[in-house]
Amino acid sequence: MAAHADLVRSQGKTLVFVPTMGFLHEGHISLMEIGLAHGNHLVVSIFVNPAQFGPTEDLDAYPRDMERDLALCKKAGAAAVYTPDASSMYGPGFETRVIQESLPNHLCGLSRPRLFSGVTTVVTKLFNTVKPHVAVFGEKDFQQLAVLKRMTLDLDFDIKIVSGPTVREQDGLAKSSRNSYLSATQRKNATALYQCLEETGKKVAKGQLDTQGLLQEAKEKIAAVPEAAIDYINIVDPNSLVDVARVEKPALMAMAVFVGKTRLIDNMMLYPPG
Ligand code: PAJ
Repeated sequence: MAAHADLVRSQGKTLVFVPTMGFLHEGHISLMEIGLAHGNHLVVSIFVNPAQFGPTEDLDAYPRDMERDLALCKKAGAAAVYTPDASSMYGPGFETRVIQESLPNHLCGLSRPRLFSGVTTVVTKLFNTVKPHVAVFGEKDFQQLAVLKRMTLDLDFDIKIVSGPTVREQDGLAKSSRNSYLSATQRKNATALYQCLEETGKKVAKGQLDTQGLLQEAKEKIAAVPEAAIDYINIVDPNSLVDVARVEKPALMAMAVFVGKTRLIDNMMLYPPG
């Protein structure tokens, strides 16, 4: 991969990179399309990264379909797909992790303590091997995007980070490889996450700005969904990810909810009137 990157760069091409864990869906494809608007040589990586899963999480169960993924990448215009295996990514004696001070100490980082150091570590390694000019990440994983923008700045990566909006199913559920875990009933119930974000967005637009009340109502709505268990629902400053008391300026509402055993995340910006 590194030799390929050197060659492409020496030809004066603009290398754009979309890192993924595979089991691709329209969300991933949309990032590839956005990428191709920013460059002319698209590289996609497919790697289910063990370093970002906790010991009780779904690493082994994580859905995989390499053949289908490769066909989708080709159709989307990828020039190359990088598919390292875990033993080449983390060889014998591997012991380095890239760790951030505060952005991981919010939202998903609280219930998944190894997630973001696993992500920053693997994305550092992927950046060093793929050597992109531009990398594209989804706003669906808003905290991941914030973490990786900060890391790119802090570690002097000469890479432009571009983000893509969340692609949703027709009923609003954010597309996710993990949606494949849901039973038909759970899949229907899972739309509550998006509905809850939408409702809160409307309340804020009408001038209900106190986050305590907004969160209470949101939590009651989600708690009423069969098989749903709230991991977190917060309204935060989109830069620091710190909770806000009132939505005086645009704020991010973010949630993680278990539907059965499947942990789903979603988020939406809330805009106060004016
Ligand atoms: P993965 O979950 O496969 O997601 C790969 C990229 O697709 C991420 O940037 C994610 O935000 C984006 N994405 C996922 N669902 C989306 C949707 N519905 N709409 C738009 N974009 C969406 O995120 C990871 O993999 C990993 O943590 C990774 C960055 C590859 C590091 O291992």
